[in-house]
Amino acid sequence: MQPNIRPEIETNYNTMSKKGAQIFAQKIKDHPKGTFGFATGSTPIGLYKELVDMHKKENLDFSGITTFNLDEYYPIKRESEHSYYYFMQKHLFGHVNVDQSQVFLPDGAAQNPEEEAQAYETKIHQSGNFIIQILGIGLNGHIGFNEPGESFVAETRYVPLTEITLNANAKHFPNPADMPHHAITMGIRSIMMAQHILLLVSGEAKAAILRDSLFGPITPLVPASVLQLHPSVIVVSDKEAASLLV
Ligand code: GLP
Repeated sequence: MQPNIRPEIETNYNTMSKKGAQIFAQKIKDHPKGTFGFATGSTPIGLYKELVDMHKKENLDFSGITTFNLDEYYPIKRESEHSYYYFMQKHLFGHVNVDQSQVFLPDGAAQNPEEEAQAYETKIHQSGNFIIQILGIGLNGHIGFNEPGESFVAETRYVPLTEITLNANAKHFPNPADMPHHAITMGIRSIMMAQHILLLVSGEAKAAILRDSLFGPITPLVPASVLQLHPSVIVVSDKEAASLLV
């Protein structure tokens, strides 16, 4: 394994979530006024539950931090149960003492998604570097909604979703007509500016893409392969996801 990539292989989803939460919580303690990057998807739900527990039982303090999420569907209203805003409130922000005025996600209801993407990028730059960015990975190697083929230097922008992502996320939309086909996503350039990346990967289905991302050629065709160029990536996975790593 390259020295910039630290693998933490856990036995199962629960221990993976606990390990990820410990690493993230320590960064909040070290930087109580820092800016932190969050992700959605099924994978980080357990980690968020652990952070909520740490807030309730150990007073983990979120009051000084600023938060940015990777992405949001477009078009979607904040209050829709499918929005990533709703997801973050449900799983984390609604249960901890974060300052809600310092919680940022792209606005999926903005009139002009391209302008919204630019405004989000500007806000990110004004907030300074992220201490740590949580990432999941799509089956096709996407990070955020940076789909295969996107430039490594792309900034926040309005993107169409690929067929594979639409299919993978369809499980969250019982009525297919509700599913947006676009999103606003932080670009790879912005993700790569975080001081540390916490990549969470669970399950056998992700084993091949995790191997390709960490050991395969560095190519926009596998967006997560860019992480090989990041100075500090902590990969927290269960043993199924890590099963093809050497
Ligand atoms: C979504 C999100 C990504 C996430 C990915 C994997 O499309 N935009 O940020 O990493 O899917 O999701 P899951 O954890 O549910 O496999």
